[in-house]
Amino acid sequence: MHQFKRTLVTTALPYANGPVHLGHLAGVYLPADIYVRYKRLKGEDIIHIGGSDEHGVPITITAEREGISPQEVVDRYHSMNLAAFQKCAISFDYYGRTSSRVHHVTSQEFFSEIEQKGIFKKKTEQQFFDSKAGRFLSDRYVTGTCPVCGSLEANGDQCEQCGTHLSPLELINPKSKLSDATPELRETMHWYFPLGRFQSALEEYVTAHEEDWRPNVINYSRTWLKQGLNDRAITRDLGWGIKVPLDTAEASGKVLYVWFDAVLGYISFTREWAAELGRPELWKEYWQNPECRLVNFIGKDNVVFHTLMFPSILMAWNEGRQSGCYNLADNVPASEFMNFEGRKFSKSRNYAVYLGEFLEKFPADTLRYSIAMNYPENKDTDFSWQDFQNRTNGELADTLGNFIKRSVDFTNARFEGAVPYQCSDADWNSLGIDWKETLEQLDRAFEEYHFREAVTLGMDIARAANRFLTESEPWKVIKTDKDAAARTMALALNLCHVLSVALYPVIPETANSIHAMLGCTGGIEELIRRGDSLMTNLLHPTLHKDHRLRPNSEILFTKIEDADIAPELKKIEQLVAEAEKREAGAAQEQMEFKPEISFDDFQKVDLRVARVLSAEKVQKASKLLKLQLQIGPRTKQVLAGIALYYRPEELIGKNVILVANLAERKIRDELSQGMILAVEDSDGKLFVVEPAGDAKSGGQVQ
Ligand code: MF3
Ligand code: ZN
Repeated sequence: MHQFKRTLVTTALPYANGPVHLGHLAGVYLPADIYVRYKRLKGEDIIHIGGSDEHGVPITITAEREGISPQEVVDRYHSMNLAAFQKCAISFDYYGRTSSRVHHVTSQEFFSEIEQKGIFKKKTEQQFFDSKAGRFLSDRYVTGTCPVCGSLEANGDQCEQCGTHLSPLELINPKSKLSDATPELRETMHWYFPLGRFQSALEEYVTAHEEDWRPNVINYSRTWLKQGLNDRAITRDLGWGIKVPLDTAEASGKVLYVWFDAVLGYISFTREWAAELGRPELWKEYWQNPECRLVNFIGKDNVVFHTLMFPSILMAWNEGRQSGCYNLADNVPASEFMNFEGRKFSKSRNYAVYLGEFLEKFPADTLRYSIAMNYPENKDTDFSWQDFQNRTNGELADTLGNFIKRSVDFTNARFEGAVPYQCSDADWNSLGIDWKETLEQLDRAFEEYHFREAVTLGMDIARAANRFLTESEPWKVIKTDKDAAARTMALALNLCHVLSVALYPVIPETANSIHAMLGCTGGIEELIRRGDSLMTNLLHPTLHKDHRLRPNSEILFTKIEDADIAPELKKIEQLVAEAEKREAGAAQEQMEFKPEISFDDFQKVDLRVARVLSAEKVQKASKLLKLQLQIGPRTKQVLAGIALYYRPEELIGKNVILVANLAERKIRDELSQGMILAVEDSDGKLFVVEPAGDAKSGGQVQ
């Protein structure tokens, strides 16, 4: 195991084209903050770097939709998201933006270095061009009919209806989103990053982390590696972004692809952080010193960008260098998704609860706690208002808050506001908690990114403490045995202190309030700065006899009444109703028949019974199956978007109905010579239409 001296944590840069919502918080920013705060408690050297992703098509599309400039879009959402994170106590050491000068310089440096080493390839390809708008159209600017499922609204990069990844050239009847014009094909040159060149190095990298990375992170990466890595275009014809740093005609009008620049943002922002500290070289200790551990917190949709693309860009930089080499990530803790009230968050469909808005109504710590308990570590989870209310009232207010307040209030009332007894280690160990074991368990949970477990362990201490106080009944015992009551209260107060430390990573503001009530000055951050190693304090009682508490206590958590969340539940109802209406609307739309055709038109369609001879999955297209069909004496190959609903072997021997005279087309570099008929069931699953009876292969459907 590698011994690291310091840690650099990065969190995925959210696109500055909308407000961050609770799903983002749950998957990336809160777990990262919990991790970082825990490491700070241990006295480790750690920084947390994040910021806004301000380039790319998502930004320009938002700008066009709202009729404002891309700069206005990113200015608005950068400050909005930064403010929301601050309110949520996400403790970034630096929160940058990719529109900064330093970031432009850093990205261009990387481009130039890799260009000079001759690693990039240049390729000229046909791309759609909107001659009305005078612009090349990147994938998301083209829409058309899906060649796989026939949806009329497929995007140039993906069909939402069937999920197939597409290239714009595969769309039937392509249209430009800018002007509705039919785009024309024009040649354009782009720089490509040859991922394949790093195939074996990346395989080695991923394999080396087989044990310590999450299974899904390994799986996503392996799936890509197995298919073989291809060249990826890393430039675009777009007016918004980082210019290709070459003074040649071919570079004019080209910017770096957003993913090429975004991941480098982590580096740029660390440089900016160091410069602001007045130690401009310090960033190198975090990026180029192998004693630093790099951890990238991300959502599952960003995995391959962080386990394959980013590392290979760094490998390209490092190639042939003696010094100034970058570290690769030691871990990439990618989360699954947290859903909300049973549905996926969707920015585009406005089904979301935004972080900033939430925190206008409820305190950060209640949200942080509930979300941590729903952390989507290995599977998708669900967050609901009901769950939020239950956890706040039951766990935070009744268990934790109540215990702290009872301990402090009783000591203030009956023991003149001072710790009334000197606890020994023997007293401490008589509580029935194995402190050493607890400390080790906590440490493992935090260090191995099991945040739900870590917080649960902390809350278990609160439950045990609450039980101890209730069962010891100091308010009764004090009448007959003041010394026994004093001992109980001294232990209770020390438990309060332990809770403030153990729960600090998840509920930092509350932890500081507890600390203050216990009469500890300066707050937990101050103790960290002073170099106290707070976690090991768990092993012994730290509040000594006669230590003075603050004379007044406070209520740590206000209970959430049904009336408080009623408007939120109502809003959800509305959002769900809207979503259902939209879905019904889509169904309605499908009920509208296509324009009338003549009998002759219909006669042109040659439908045949075909028998499935073989079926196999298609590389790089998880939705597609490649079928070999027997039509009488002939055979044809057809690609069908049914891989999610059938295992290949289930189809073999089935009779299906084939549109036999459809023009051939290429999908994913594979020839498709027709389409087979399928219908959707009420769950949206596709079933191939099978002729009943003993249909004859090749027979005409009439
Ligand atoms: N903006 C991207 C998204 O929201 C994430 C970028 S992460 C980075 O999906 F690594 F590129 F920074
Ligand atoms: Zn489709």
